[in-house]
Amino acid sequence: MNFTDTVLVTGGAGFIGSNFVLSWMENAGTPLLNLDLLTYAGNPANLAALEGDTRHRLVRGDICDGDLVAALLREHRPRAMVHFAAESHVDRSIVAPDAFLRTNIEGTFTLLERAKAYWLGLEESDRRAFRFLHVSTDEVYGSLGTNDPAFCETTAYAPNSPYSASKAASDHLVRAYHHTFGLPTLTTNCSNNYGPFQFPEKLIPLMILHALEGKPLPVYGDGSNVRDWLFVEDHCVAIRTVLERGRPGETYNIGGRSERRNLDVVTTLCDLVDEMQPDPAQGPRRRLITFVKDRPGHDQRYAIDSSKIARELGWTPAETFERGLRRTVRWYLDHLEWVEQIRSGEYLKWIEENYAERLAR
Ligand code: NAD
Ligand code: TYD
Repeated sequence: MNFTDTVLVTGGAGFIGSNFVLSWMENAGTPLLNLDLLTYAGNPANLAALEGDTRHRLVRGDICDGDLVAALLREHRPRAMVHFAAESHVDRSIVAPDAFLRTNIEGTFTLLERAKAYWLGLEESDRRAFRFLHVSTDEVYGSLGTNDPAFCETTAYAPNSPYSASKAASDHLVRAYHHTFGLPTLTTNCSNNYGPFQFPEKLIPLMILHALEGKPLPVYGDGSNVRDWLFVEDHCVAIRTVLERGRPGETYNIGGRSERRNLDVVTTLCDLVDEMQPDPAQGPRRRLITFVKDRPGHDQRYAIDSSKIARELGWTPAETFERGLRRTVRWYLDHLEWVEQIRSGEYLKWIEENYAERLAR
């Protein structure tokens, strides 16, 4: 059996997935099949720009449903799979880890099993060209001290949250399917992303929207935790690069070379919102910063050494943190309707659950 030009993407209605799908259509333009369960984090409105575009097809379905995955592979015969689908929010994984184990571990296992069966049925040359790209996180490496060197591809795994533990397990499964069965896999471990379409439970969009609305800005602990921020568009380019030129069986770390303390990110966001949406009656948004109870097991610092992907594949981030953050604030100010639409009952329930007790500190 031969494969087609199609790429099967999972989780392509979420934050990074939808950015990837949109930029794929602009840059590659070949057919893309998008399998997404549309959980609270998945939003077809992210893909509204593709309405009527027959190259993109969204299928609502679960990556844990092996029969569905096998049927889609049989019908569409993709040349590659790019796997984004996951439960992705650390705080939710602390409150309710079950869905993380199911989707991130069982779901990845199901995809690998079905991909293997499909791949074994391909013609020899297509079998060599097929790729399974697994999108993962730097959080699998655990937490760094202030002076530790950044994570590289050989750093030992030491996940600390149910989220990162479930992603680490999925990375190991991907590795094993390459090592044992020869499936041509690629794994990317990326740092914190930000940009358009990020669900407003994550730090940057949450702070932009709260600042705009004059609500408290809940900084966990003392705000000294450090994340290495990458503009989502740069992540999408990196994934396309690894997909086309990465070596099967390899992992690639992707990072923004933009380490920032949470408190510095939040104050910068306050200043940007003050500048772009002045509200003299409210005063400077910085006064909304509120230190709240810390996240249990909160990783202190993440930093990515992305020299391998730079050296081997020529990828480096194009966007600076300052410009990317400005573009992101602008995007949220221009898309308040999108925000309103996703702030459903479920979202409000989460905000109540996660912050009621923290704010009481
Ligand atoms: P997200 O939570 O915004 O989106 C996840 C998507 O997966 C949603 O569209 C959701 O509907 C879908 N999904 C969830 N369970 C599913 C299931 N069982 N079957 C099919 N679809 C399902 O996540 P994101 O921030 O876009 O992250 C995407 C991927 O990138 C994840 O694998 C995550 O671990 C990884 N990652 C994220 C970041 C980040 O900063 N957000 C950084 C590095 C890596
Ligand atoms: P988050 O966006 O949840 O990403 P991750 O935990 O995967 O890095 O959080 C980024 C950082 O911001 C993390 O150190 C936790 C912190 N944080 C807050 O201080 N307040 C908040 O309300 C949230 C959601 C996060």
